[in-house]
Amino acid sequence: MTAAMVIQRAQFREHDQYRPYKELDIIVAGTDTSAAMVVWTMTELIKNSAVMRKVQDELRNLIRGKNFIDEDDLPKLTYLKAVVKETFRFHPAAPLLIVREAIQNCSIQGYDILPKSLLLVNVWAIGRDPEIWDNPEKFMPERFLGSSVDFKGQDFELIPFGAGRRMCPGMLLGIANLELALANLLYSFDWELPIGVKKEDIDTDMIPGIAMHKKNPLCFVAKKFPQVNQRVFRFLPPAHSVQYSGLLWLIERPCTLERARWFDQRKVRRFVQLS
Ligand code: HEM
Repeated sequence: MTAAMVIQRAQFREHDQYRPYKELDIIVAGTDTSAAMVVWTMTELIKNSAVMRKVQDELRNLIRGKNFIDEDDLPKLTYLKAVVKETFRFHPAAPLLIVREAIQNCSIQGYDILPKSLLLVNVWAIGRDPEIWDNPEKFMPERFLGSSVDFKGQDFELIPFGAGRRMCPGMLLGIANLELALANLLYSFDWELPIGVKKEDIDTDMIPGIAMHKKNPLCFVAKKFPQVNQRVFRFLPPAHSVQYSGLLWLIERPCTLERARWFDQRKVRRFVQLS
């Protein structure tokens, strides 16, 4: 979305005739970002198998005998939360936040900012700044264990939801949604790459846009984790499945990349119940 479009968006919000677009704003802002984050987290986990194993061990050791992880379980999942923070640092859903416009003259660190100047906050670059982060190019959730850095807009080194009065109003819903989706995917299944695909083949190319999506779909093979009853996924509302577009779930083994592509071309993205 260009800066001009964003300003236009801010103007039409004032008019009643555009009220339906406010609802559309909320739906788009809430689904697109969450879907992108599920895909980026799963991408990093398949590339970093030790991290995937650690997060699955946490889930399966702490939560036993349940078919579905719910919100009450989330506070216990310290490592999963660190994985989510690390993904926000590495792949922020909105890498330039939403453009700001100065409404009056001001001076910042000796620079005079004129009214109507547009400001883009490069959250992506902040997340990879070597002056802030050790080994910024490495996916390392451990950096957040025991750290007070949070994404709630107070720590400017990690602001995937923005900061200040225009920060994301759906942050808490977005986080709960993301953590629940990831927790259940990782708890219920072991994830493997299709035959012939190596983790080095998984790219992190992105599509330009206000929300940063993975360019090439992620193809996985989900393997039943026997202790969990996968029928649980029947109860997810259809909207849940739609949100995960871009993350391809294939519930069969063995599976080649060709077969994965066959599913992809036919848009088979919904979870398939195993008999
Ligand atoms: C992981 C999930 C989410 C992420 C990463 C995310 C991220 C963001 C970011 C970066 C902004 C711009 C903030 C700024 O420029 O300072 C934003 C704005 C917004 N978000 Fe979210 N968001 C998420 C989930 C949600 C959800 C679930 C909803 C609503 C149900 C939502 C509704 C909005 C709205 C309405 C705005 C525009 C606020 C405004 O212009 O004042 N977001 N979000």
